[in-house]
Amino acid sequence: MTTLEELKGIVAIEYALPTYYIPQEDIAKHLKVDPNKLKIGLGLQEIGVPSSNQDVVSLAMTAVHNLITKNNIDISKVGRLEVGTESNFDGSKAIKTYLMDLFPGNNTICGIDTTNACYGGTNALLNAINWIHSPFWDGRYAIVVSTDIASYLNDESAIPTAGAGAVAILLGNDPVFVFENEMSHYSSNEKDFLKPKDCYPYPVMDGRLSVDKYLTAFQECYSEIKKRIHDNFDYICFHNPFPKLPQKICKSYNISEDKLRMSNLIAQRNGNSYTPSLYFSFLSLLYNAKEKLKINQKVLMFSYGAGCMASIFILRKVKQGCICEDLEERLDKRQKMNIDEYFKRLKDGINLKDYEPNDSVCVNGFYLEKIENYFRYYRYFNKTVIQ
Ligand code: HMG
Repeated sequence: MTTLEELKGIVAIEYALPTYYIPQEDIAKHLKVDPNKLKIGLGLQEIGVPSSNQDVVSLAMTAVHNLITKNNIDISKVGRLEVGTESNFDGSKAIKTYLMDLFPGNNTICGIDTTNACYGGTNALLNAINWIHSPFWDGRYAIVVSTDIASYLNDESAIPTAGAGAVAILLGNDPVFVFENEMSHYSSNEKDFLKPKDCYPYPVMDGRLSVDKYLTAFQECYSEIKKRIHDNFDYICFHNPFPKLPQKICKSYNISEDKLRMSNLIAQRNGNSYTPSLYFSFLSLLYNAKEKLKINQKVLMFSYGAGCMASIFILRKVKQGCICEDLEERLDKRQKMNIDEYFKRLKDGINLKDYEPNDSVCVNGFYLEKIENYFRYYRYFNKTVIQ
């Protein structure tokens, strides 16, 4: 019989939030729409906005640094590191390679980046858990990072659904959550959302079509998994572009609102962060449920990436842990950004060859120091600086 220590799955989870936020009231005023359309119609309260010295690498570095330090991980015991993202600024160099600076003395870590819209993080997670269950596993931890920045410049109806952040997940023996055997997948060739290089960093999309495709993907994955597990799950977490969407789905599939409610917090207050979105839903559940999430209870996880690829997988809690205590405190620490400043920064963009950010706000974590001849340099701040 397998002992608890021999099980394999999620051992710990950590994250990084962007430095700023903008309330939906300010966005509604800017777009000249009724704030209730955004707050009630979409279920959003705020969007998370990175500082000019935060990018997808610095967010990922902060999340991994938090994971390693808070869980006292011996960095020589990490054997795989995977990144899911759709916001890489580079067509070749993987974000994973930047993260290697956090593992001095350990150059034996396999894994690289995965991209397909918001699904890349899930593909990375499934790769890593498959590795751990395979004959190729060397007994060391895997870390999976999802990191993205979502922003829209000209697509007015999408602007309220922007967001950003990174989530890092530690996989190995003696886990808090295991992956159940049942999974379902759905994939098709869709024209709802893509990011041609000449539009970087903005998507070309059809927002309403993307919602239709999301609904179809859920319908297909859910009907397939339901044949096998029926209603045998206790909580549900969604890739959450705006909280009204999972709420409507639960209503139409007769899934109790109680199974969903606790996972909406970060999507409401930080928007759609793309690949980390599903894992921020999971963190919201961990934060809100605390000991209400009991041993052997199951969480249904729906991952969707436009284009499209979607999966449902199930996590089962096997022991206490994965505590997420200060989520609201960390959300509250973000600084409010002026909406005019936000659009100015988006319009100005950054010089991808040579750049020195001039943002004066840093909250503990890694920051982009400069870009010099395309290469990016990062620096750690261990104190909060707000000038
Ligand atoms: P919109 O123009 O805000 O849509 O665009 P709307 O006019 O349908 O309004 C939204 C809701 O507000 C409606 O509710 C209105 O009735 C309601 P519904 O009828 O649907 O129940 N409403 C009001 N409610 C209260 N008071 C009022 C009021 N006025 C109207 N006064 C859209 C919405 C999602 C299309 C837009 O925000 C968008 O394009 N977002 C980006 C795309 C997106 O989020 N897609 C989601 C699914 S695809 C996905 O998740 C993948 C993605 O993450 C990318 C990736 O995979 O990488 C995006």
